Amino acid sequence: MDFGLQGKTALVTGGSSGLGMAICEELAKEGVNVVLQYRSKSKEESVLRFVEELNQKYSGTSMAVRGDLERSEDVHFIFDKAVENYKKLDILVNNAGIWPQAYVKDMTEKDFERTIKINLQSPFVLCKRMINHLIDDGRKGKIINIVSQAAFHGSTTGHAHYAASKGGLVTFTVSLAREVARNGINVNAVAPGIMRTPMITGGLSDEEINKRYMNRIPLGRIAEPEEVAYVVTYLASNKSDYITGATIDVTGGMLMR
Ligand SMILES: NC(=O)c1ccc[n+]([C@@H]2O[C@H](COP(=O)([O-])OP(=O)(O)OC[C@H]3O[C@@H](n4cnc5c(N)ncnc54)[C@H](OP(=O)(O)O)[C@@H]3O)[C@@H](O)[C@H]2O)c1
Repeated sequence: MDFGLQGKTALVTGGSSGLGMAICEELAKEGVNVVLQYRSKSKEESVLRFVEELNQKYSGTSMAVRGDLERSEDVHFIFDKAVENYKKLDILVNNAGIWPQAYVKDMTEKDFERTIKINLQSPFVLCKRMINHLIDDGRKGKIINIVSQAAFHGSTTGHAHYAASKGGLVTFTVSLAREVARNGINVNAVAPGIMRTPMITGGLSDEEINKRYMNRIPLGRIAEPEEVAYVVTYLASNKSDYITGATIDVTGGMLMR
């Protein structure tokens, strides 16, 4: 199937790890130029190696931009850098996120605020920049926001701030989709359940992961990040032109609604 993505340009946040890396790879495979945002200085070497690999393997060109999405000036810097290099962006994937743990009785206001800033406010700013960029140029585009099953189900294990940030991002996605539909800009969300990424695995053995999550997942296994990235690629493509304001659940049945 031709996804019509050849020669398009995408900005993907959180491209240094887990799902973000898989999204960058799947988009690059389709001939997309990818601007990969990451945060950690310590990952610079591996990120640059990954970008180099994408450039060697696929027809598009990719580049990395470092910035902390908790800092407003960095958020603007990332978008400016992407436009400076490629002039025209077609796809924005708000993927970066944090998943801190604390029950509400112990949760600090600082942690709550930080979670909202990274998981909800930075996607808002990037969405705003992206729609103005597209509308000023009179071009169509695609925005995909990565949320979570927790947006609908709430948290069960001390992530109320995270669940609130993702719930906010779902309703923001719907509202923005209505605002910009007539401009030919599709805005959708993807809700993973549990994926095999550093966010979840962090030092746990396969056995511990199974014990913790398996009885909540009807398909009986956690997702590989690629399985979620395929859905993002579809939403970035011309095959999803009639979908907007939707959240696609990719949860192995963990979330059925
Ligand atoms: N894993 C799951 O089971 C699961 C389930 C539901 C939803 N999700 C969502 O899927 C998305 C990707 O998660 P993942 O599992 O791939 O997590 P991950 O492996 O921990 O990767 C998180 C990414 O976000 C970036 N990031 C974190 N804080 C940042 C900040 N302040 N500024 C800029 N970038 C920052 C990280 O950059 P550095 O590496 O450079 O620090 C990293 O690239 C997230 O939105 C997450 O909420 C994940």
